[in-house]
Formats: sequence, C-alpha cells, structure tokens
Amino acid sequence: MTRGLFITGTDTGVGKTRVGTLLIRELVGRDLRICVRKPVESGCMRHGNALVPADAFALRAAAGNREALDRVCAFPLEAPVSPARAAALAGQTLDLEQLIAACRQDVGAEDFLVVEGAGGFLSPLTRDALNADLARQLDLPVLLVTADRLGAVHQVLVAAEAIARRGLILAAVVLNQVDPALDARLDNAAELAHWLGRTIIALPSQAGTGALPQLAALAEKLARNR
Ligand SMILES: Nc1ncnc2c1ncn2[C@@H]1O[C@H](COP(=O)(O)OP(=O)(O)OP(=O)(O)O)[C@@H](O)[C@H]1O
Ligand SMILES: [Mg+2]
Repeated sequence: MTRGLFITGTDTGVGKTRVGTLLIRELVGRDLRICVRKPVESGCMRHGNALVPADAFALRAAAGNREALDRVCAFPLEAPVSPARAAALAGQTLDLEQLIAACRQDVGAEDFLVVEGAGGFLSPLTRDALNADLARQLDLPVLLVTADRLGAVHQVLVAAEAIARRGLILAAVVLNQVDPALDARLDNAAELAHWLGRTIIALPSQAGTGALPQLAALAEKLARNR
C-alpha cells in the first residue's frame, strides 16, 4: 500500500493547490521522498506546442523540483472546463486506469505520494471516473479543503459522507480563507468542529502563517505513519 495523501475539495478554486504546497513544504525535510501528482490538469496555458500545468508546477516546486513536470502531470489539457470535457474537446480519451498508472509511475513502496485531484470530490475526472474513484483506487487518506464562506458546513458534511461511504480515511479538513474580507460573524471552524466532531485546520487569508503549526503537526503525523 502506498503512503500519501489525496488532496480534494468541496469545489474548484477552494485552495487545494495552496494548501497542498504549504503542506508539501512541511513534509519536505521529514526524511521522506515525496512524489507529487496532478495527473490531469485542465485550463493549462499554451506556450508554443507545450501546455503548462500551473498546479503541477507549484506542487512540484514545493517538493523540490525533483521530478519532471510531465511525470507530475501526465495529462495537461487546455480548455478551462472539467478534465473529462477538456479531454473530449482535445479529441483525447482519458480513463481511470490511465490516471492510476500516472499516479503510480516511478513511485516506490517507501515514497510518500501526494495527489491533487481536480474540482471537488465528486467532480468527474474522466468519462468513467470521479475524483472519488481515483482516491478509492489509490487507497489514500483524504485531505478535504473548503473555502471559508457561507455554505461551507453543508459542503464539508456532504463531502465527508461521500469520503466515509467509500471507506476512505479523512486525514484532515482545511477551512481556507480565500476571501480576505470574510464576515467576522461567521464561525465555520466552530460549526464544523461541532458537526464533524473533530478539529478543523483554519488557514487565514494571504500569509497563512496562522495555520502553519497545525499543518506542521499534520505533516508530522503523516510522516510518522509509516
Ligand atoms: N487563503 C488564501 N488567501 C488568498 N488567496 C487564496 C487563498 N487560498 C487560495 N487563494 C487563491 O485562490 C485561487 C484558488 O486557489 P487554488 O488554486 O489553491 O484552488 P484549487 O482548489 O487548487 O483550484 P483548482 O480547482 O483550479 O485546482 C488562487 O488564485 C489562490 O492564489
Ligand atoms: Mg489546484
């Protein structure tokens, strides 16, 4: 069984890559060989003939640029729509087996694999699979990221049910303050802690230094589970 983490979210744009890069930086230096994968990324910028996957680029940089970008992201796609749709628009057929193979390529038994999905936990990745299916097949603990805004409690509880239903471990929930002008009367961290019965990692806007001790503690826990 591979050790690692599947980073998912309640939606697109909630901060999966931001949280992923911060956590990877905490994992680096803990005597782990880290392999990062964003197996399929849509919305890539075109530079000549090449498509540049920005998430894969950021995750790879956080891990120390050890692996080639096309190993991190095997399937970069141009259209800024779901990967399944972007692949269809590019005339490509993508299936779950290809993504599993891309995630496992060059990952040794002792390596720590960090995978970022695309969109939310139940968003389609290919014509035959959701993010949930890839997480299930890789059998990785799940890190769930949500944007701190009204409605987050519902979105996290729904996603947490979907994760549990597949028998996957919910490693942590990160409440990410994407909007710096968040209404101070909201207290999603407390609401989520109440309904989920567990501590939430609250990541402040911009600097994010406030939550780094909690991310460091999570990294330490993940690194120790070997
Ligand atoms: N805490 C934050 N403070 C300020 N900006 C943030 C914060 N979190 C995320 N952002 C910004 O919000 C945008 C979306 O974040 P990010 O790319 O990490 O989301 P994502 O869930 O990985 O998105 P995708 O579904 O496209 O992979 C980015 O421009 C990012 O810089
Ligand atoms: Mg991302």
